[in-house]
Amino acid sequence: MLDKIAQIKDSAIRQIESCSDIDQLNQLKVKYLGRKGELTDILRSIGKLSAQERPAVGKLAGEVKALISQRLQEIFSSLEAKQQSPQEFFDITMPGRRPSVGKKHPLTQLIDEIVKIFHGMGFSVAEGPDVETEYYNFDALNTPADHPSRDIQDTFYLENGELLRTHTSPVQIRVMEKQRPPVRIIAPGKCYRRDTPDATHSPNFHHVEGLYVDTDVTMADLKGTLVVFAQQLLGKEVRVRFRPHFFPFTEPSVEWDFSCTACGGKGCNLCKGTGWIEISGAGMVDPAVFEAVGYDSEKYSGYAFGMGVERIAMVKYGINDIRLFYENDLRFIQQF
Ligand code: DAH
Repeated sequence: MLDKIAQIKDSAIRQIESCSDIDQLNQLKVKYLGRKGELTDILRSIGKLSAQERPAVGKLAGEVKALISQRLQEIFSSLEAKQQSPQEFFDITMPGRRPSVGKKHPLTQLIDEIVKIFHGMGFSVAEGPDVETEYYNFDALNTPADHPSRDIQDTFYLENGELLRTHTSPVQIRVMEKQRPPVRIIAPGKCYRRDTPDATHSPNFHHVEGLYVDTDVTMADLKGTLVVFAQQLLGKEVRVRFRPHFFPFTEPSVEWDFSCTACGGKGCNLCKGTGWIEISGAGMVDPAVFEAVGYDSEKYSGYAFGMGVERIAMVKYGINDIRLFYENDLRFIQQF
């Protein structure tokens, strides 16, 4: 009898474990544990056995029954799990996926910051077209036809004789044509030049132009405005320096520098040992420019300045290659 139970156990377990189908598994359950099952028969007949045989047979039959039902249960569960489609399978313990949040490009962020500072000093934002005429980009800005900046090397000319603006200074002219003094504007925007891209040049870049025209505007107003701007943007310790220069649309003209933000003016790699970082040009509006827009240069005076946004961003964030701004590599952009 004991041998028979052992045989039942072996064949039951073997069949259950190799079973890959729930219906088949149900049949095995009936075969071994059902009312007419082989093991049930044995358990039912225990009463007829002798008193010596009964305990051992009873014990083994009970153990085998428990073992078979346990294996059946296990195989049932695993077959059921396999049957479930992936959609039905939902792991509520899995962490959710965060939506990635977009933000402004670092150059746009910096332009916003520059605009905000000048807003605080009473400047409003003016805009002009990227495609300009020679008149606005050059002539009205007192840039004669033989001036080097009109060279075909620097300017993208269109077939119809128009051009891509090389600076946002033409916005000055467009504003003054429409408005009488006082005028206090900044003009942020894209500019274009035929430059071969390298670490410090890009054929497309951004400028912010500034213009203030009123009675009795002086160079001291220009300097004061740029100092306030520099200190709000980069910190109280920053100083501004003027160097004599030439621009056709201003007289006198200067180039303006920030004291180096990396070394505080002592001289380092960033400022090439000079202690100063060149930002751009500025000056007092040339009377010829006033004449072009019909302002009386005896009555009014004004200052104008320009600045390269990429240049300031490179200084502010310690970036050594301008091309990083245009590659749109998220690993770079997400740092701002
Ligand atoms: N437009 C000049 C440039 O493209 C920058 C500039 C210089 C603007 C002097 C000004 C200025 O308004 O007064 O580099």
